This record gives sequence, structure tokens and C-alpha cells, in this order.
Amino acid sequence: MTGVVALNRDAREAYDRALHKARVSAYLPGEFVGQESFMRATDILRLAGRARIGPGTSVLDLCCGVGGPGLLIARHYGCRYHGVDASASAVRIAQARARDVQCRFDVAEVPPLPGGRYDVVLLLETMLAFPDKRDLLRHVAAALPLGGRFAFTVEEGSPLTDRERASMPESGTVWLTPLAELQCLLKAAGFSVTLQVECTHLHQAIAQRLYDELRADAGDISRTLGAGTLDSLLTSHRMWSDWLRTGRVRKFAVVAELTEPAASSLP
Ligand SMILES: C[S@@+](CC[C@H](N)C(=O)[O-])C[C@H]1O[C@@H](n2cnc3c(N)ncnc32)[C@H](O)[C@@H]1O
Repeated sequence: MTGVVALNRDAREAYDRALHKARVSAYLPGEFVGQESFMRATDILRLAGRARIGPGTSVLDLCCGVGGPGLLIARHYGCRYHGVDASASAVRIAQARARDVQCRFDVAEVPPLPGGRYDVVLLLETMLAFPDKRDLLRHVAAALPLGGRFAFTVEEGSPLTDRERASMPESGTVWLTPLAELQCLLKAAGFSVTLQVECTHLHQAIAQRLYDELRADAGDISRTLGAGTLDSLLTSHRMWSDWLRTGRVRKFAVVAELTEPAASSLP
């Protein structure tokens, strides 16, 4: 996951091919569906179900990556799906994989969000990339009607220290938030939390499995992506595994429902 946020932006096809073997091996059979994260297919579908995604629900998936979670949800629930990601190469892969699904993908940096209203906004495994969560939440609220749902995962913890920032590859995409602060920000944006499930241990196990499988396939990955990239991937996965194991960072899956009209208008 982290590392993926920035490292893959311009060359996702190469990453997708080079990391495939390690990713497939890291998950139990049926649980890898192209996600670039620590969520299993089971967790993705469960969160979507708790956000009341069903046939015909309109879903906006922010930071959709190569479309793994989004296409799983669209196929399983028959929703109307719109994925957005800043990486053109990620969106190319997602589009190629979506031939049998009614969906739309766009290349865009968020915020702002695409115009229009959606029943559900998803943000899976990428909340940490947004330093200004208040601004992000205002935009998400403006994209939902009253009763609309925002379903996301979040990395909870105090901000990185200078030392941690120096050690974590691509740390410019790692903005942790204490849970109490996030809850205040959600409330201020008009949301009421309807689901908050801790998934730290599950994600730690996947992070460790990914680390082990990346190491096992290190020779091939290094030949394809370069020794420096392999080193960054190993370092970031090792650090995430450690942080999740020790409680330095906790992970939560959250559904928040918009229960008050957006507090302030968007610029
Ligand atoms: C860790 S991946 C997660 C992808 C997907 N949600 C999943 O769970 O498989 C993060 C994705 O967020 C995208 N991203 C990061 N910051 C973004 C931004 N501000 N606007 C749009 N996409 C962004 C990256 O290009 C990358 O595809």
C-alpha cells in the first residue's frame, strides 16, 4: 500500500506485472482481486455491504488504483460505478479489466471531486495520502445527498516524527490522523459514524505476508523495477508491519452517513 501511493504513479503496468506473483501468494485463495492494499476481498465486500451498496447504487471510488476493489464491488453488487485516480497508467489497467462491467473511470487528482451526486463515496487505503482531511471531507460531503454514505479505511495515529518520516519511503504520502481528530472532522462535515471496525491485526498479517513474498521474489522484482525500488518496497512493508504490530498505527474501516447538510460551501 504505502509506497504504492506515489511510487507507481507513472509506471503502473510494470509494477502490476512485477508484483503480481508476490501479491497473489500473500493472500489466501480468492482474496487477491487486484487491490493495492492490505484489505482482503472479503473485507472489501463487507465494507461495501455495510455502506448499503446494492443494484443501482451510484458509487464514486476515489483513488481507485487499478480498479481491483471497485470492479469486485461493481460485479458483486451490480452498482453504478465511477472510479477516479490521479495515475493515468492505473486507470488504463482498470479500464482494460472492466470490459464486462458497466462503469466509468477518469484520471484526476482529488480534490476536487467530479461534479454530481453519488449514493456512496469510497476511499480505500488512501486516506493517509491527504494532508488536509478537513478539506477532503468537505468535498466528499458535497458529493453526497443527505443519507449518502462515505466508506473508507483510515490509518490512525499521531503524526510521523521527523525520524519516522526520514525512514519511511515516500513519506510525503503518509499523513496519519488520531482517531478522535478524525471523528471531530467527520462531525464538522455533517457525518455520523454508523460503522467503525478495527482491522489492525488483519492488515498487519497481510503487510507481513506481502513483505515475506516480496522478499521471496526479490530477484525478479529487482531485475524488473530496479534494486532501489525493491528496497523501498521492502522497507515500507516492513515498517507498516512493525507499526501495525506495535500499535504505532491502527487501522479502521469506517462508514459515515451524511446526516446534516454540508456546513460550508465549497470554494
Ligand atoms: C494504495 S493505492 C489504493 C488503490 C485502491 N483504492 C485499492 O485499494 O486498491 C492509492 C491510489 O491513490 C492514488 N492517489 C493518491 N493520491 C491521489 C489524489 N490526490 N487524487 C487521486 N488519486 C490519488 C494513487 O495513484 C494510487 O492509485
